[in-house]
Amino acid sequence: MLEIRNLRAGYGAINVLWDVNLDFAEGQLTTIVGPNGAGKSTLLKAIMGLVPASQGEINLRGASLLGRRTWDMADVGLALIPEGRMIFRDMTVEENLVLGAFPQKQRAAMASNLERMYALFPRLKERRRQLAGSLSGGEAQMVAMARGMMAEPKILLIDEPSLGLAPVIVQEIFSILRQLKQQGVTIVLVEQNTHMALSVADRVYMMRSGRVVLDKPASEIDVAKLHDLYFALES
Ligand SMILES: Nc1ncnc2c1ncn2[C@@H]1O[C@H](COP(=O)(O)OP(=O)(O)O)[C@@H](O)[C@H]1O
Ligand SMILES: [Mg+2]
Repeated sequence: MLEIRNLRAGYGAINVLWDVNLDFAEGQLTTIVGPNGAGKSTLLKAIMGLVPASQGEINLRGASLLGRRTWDMADVGLALIPEGRMIFRDMTVEENLVLGAFPQKQRAAMASNLERMYALFPRLKERRRQLAGSLSGGEAQMVAMARGMMAEPKILLIDEPSLGLAPVIVQEIFSILRQLKQQGVTIVLVEQNTHMALSVADRVYMMRSGRVVLDKPASEIDVAKLHDLYFALES
């Protein structure tokens, strides 16, 4: 559904991604694991057009995404839930969610999408009038996820949702990812918690130093080998 071919991208003179190839299949959950600095977030930013590609292709159902502006990505069904949540602390939970419905197409369905999100995240319904800045880390992550889902994406890119959260909240976040997958959303999950990532993934990529070093169906992954590769010294 979404294909990345020989992609090079980076920040000005600093190149980060070196000729990466990845395939994200429709209806599947693909996880990208790998140590800090591997280029995982840069890859998601490149897909969203936040970081320019200097080489290669990014195709969604055969059509190139290159040159498309970030704010138009919602129209082709892409949403990014960024690392660090990036919610508006001085706005209420509900105001944050409403912001996720800014694309023209979703505005008419805003009320029903809000109800859909409150069904998925009952805690957010209880806290709808509360300022987002007063939420716990787990609740803030739920706001970020619900905001992303307000645009009814077909493909959800989600960057390190479990970072800094207590294990019980991580379980909750992953159970929501499972539900979204059951609803037919294609998910690209960047995650450092390999154990949790493997528990939901159909396909696994590992990145290190801007390169893809492993590409396998989740069912074929040997966790011990995965961890060896994860912690292997840079060559
Ligand atoms: N805005 C930026 N400007 C310059 N370099 C950056 C920027 N953001 C990230 N980098 C560099 O790009 C590399 C990959 O970072 P990143 O994609 O955030 O990795 P990951 O998400 O896998 O931890 C790192 O070496 C990082 O220092
Ligand atoms: Mg990152």
